Amino acid sequence: MDLAGKNIVLGLTGGIACYKAAEFTRAMIKAGASVQVVMTSAAMHFITPVTMQGLSGKPVFTDQWDARIGNNMPHIDLTRDADVIVIAPCSADFISKLAHGACDDLLSTLCVARPATVPLLVAPAMNVEMWQNPATQRNLAQLLADDIQLLGPDAGEQACGEVGMGRMLEANQLLEEVIASFQPKLLKGKRLLLTAGPTFEPIDPVRGITNLSSGKMGYAVARAAYEAGAEVTLVSGPTALAAPYGVRRIGVQTAQQMHDIVMAQLAGADSRTDVFVAVAAVADWRVANASAQKLKKNADGSAPELVFEQNPDILATVAALPKPPYCVGFAAESENLLQYGEVKRIRKNVPLLVGNIGHDTFGKDDNQLVLFDADGHTSLPRAGKQQLARQLIAAIASRLT
Ligand code: CTP
Repeated sequence: MDLAGKNIVLGLTGGIACYKAAEFTRAMIKAGASVQVVMTSAAMHFITPVTMQGLSGKPVFTDQWDARIGNNMPHIDLTRDADVIVIAPCSADFISKLAHGACDDLLSTLCVARPATVPLLVAPAMNVEMWQNPATQRNLAQLLADDIQLLGPDAGEQACGEVGMGRMLEANQLLEEVIASFQPKLLKGKRLLLTAGPTFEPIDPVRGITNLSSGKMGYAVARAAYEAGAEVTLVSGPTALAAPYGVRRIGVQTAQQMHDIVMAQLAGADSRTDVFVAVAAVADWRVANASAQKLKKNADGSAPELVFEQNPDILATVAALPKPPYCVGFAAESENLLQYGEVKRIRKNVPLLVGNIGHDTFGKDDNQLVLFDADGHTSLPRAGKQQLARQLIAAIASRLT
């Protein structure tokens, strides 16, 4: 439950994207949050307080003069135990109000009256021309200068039929952003490159050799790195997983392709990769005599003769670069983890190696890790992969100079 115990004030302003706020509320409640909805009168043209009360389980506030609050000061009382205020959707008009500190309705007054310690996140939602208008852009710059965080918007098809920037993020993306807002920004300004998932080495056009890696641990590390403020590129073998929100994913099939993409990423002119994390379960060998046609059964019952050759070791190659990024390896062992982990860290020449028991983690949602570095090893007890990934990101951040 990523939002367990969090008190969230959700403000809705006038926009067709109000329909997404309903699902967003549900998603936050499912993630353990308590959600207090506040709506402007424009928002009530798009969705009713009844719907939002039904979904949040709490009466909705719409009026500055709401006598249900003992002291008749909802603009003060509603934020005093809030962990964050999220405005979704946030209209061009409400952005303008925030930029100027307007206090002419409950929601705008509540934002101005919030304690300085309560972060304000806004998810803009408007027509592309409204978004591009210099006045809106001026107001947005003011919001950023005032430490108000923007969530999106996205580009794409709009309800009005036009296409461009201004679409509000989807409910699940907003949820990811809210969860991320509670994570410490330990990797702010850093660039991370990761490999994840299995590789697939063809035997012929329809068959190949792969392994049981699901990609879950690597994707969790990528997500945790994004939450920690990093710019993340994930080079992924074939998995059934959606790309983590905010992460750039490049899909590959074979170990050689994974190697080539990783090296190209590190060689790019604007590439200053700070950290490389090799989570992928890379096939050690490929089939050297892979067939261009589907192999047929032999009449005499004999099996095809496959010839193997070794794949490049991506992690060892990166670690051997003249100016390598901070390299983190993973080791999937079947036994003797403590002994093999330390030996592998030294063999791969990396400052940090993360050990786990392969058959105990592949495809599962939880895991346990042992971190090996020059000072010895530390155990991270069994927990969800996302939780472990966040601990690992903190461990990496603390080792960066
Ligand atoms: N790795 C890699 N390229 C390879 C093989 C492995 O980048 N061709 C990386 C993995 O992503 C992981 C680490 O090396 O971070 C260790 O992988 P593992 O398979 O446990 O180790 P191997 O070097 O293959 O050693 P062995 O299979 O002999 O234990």
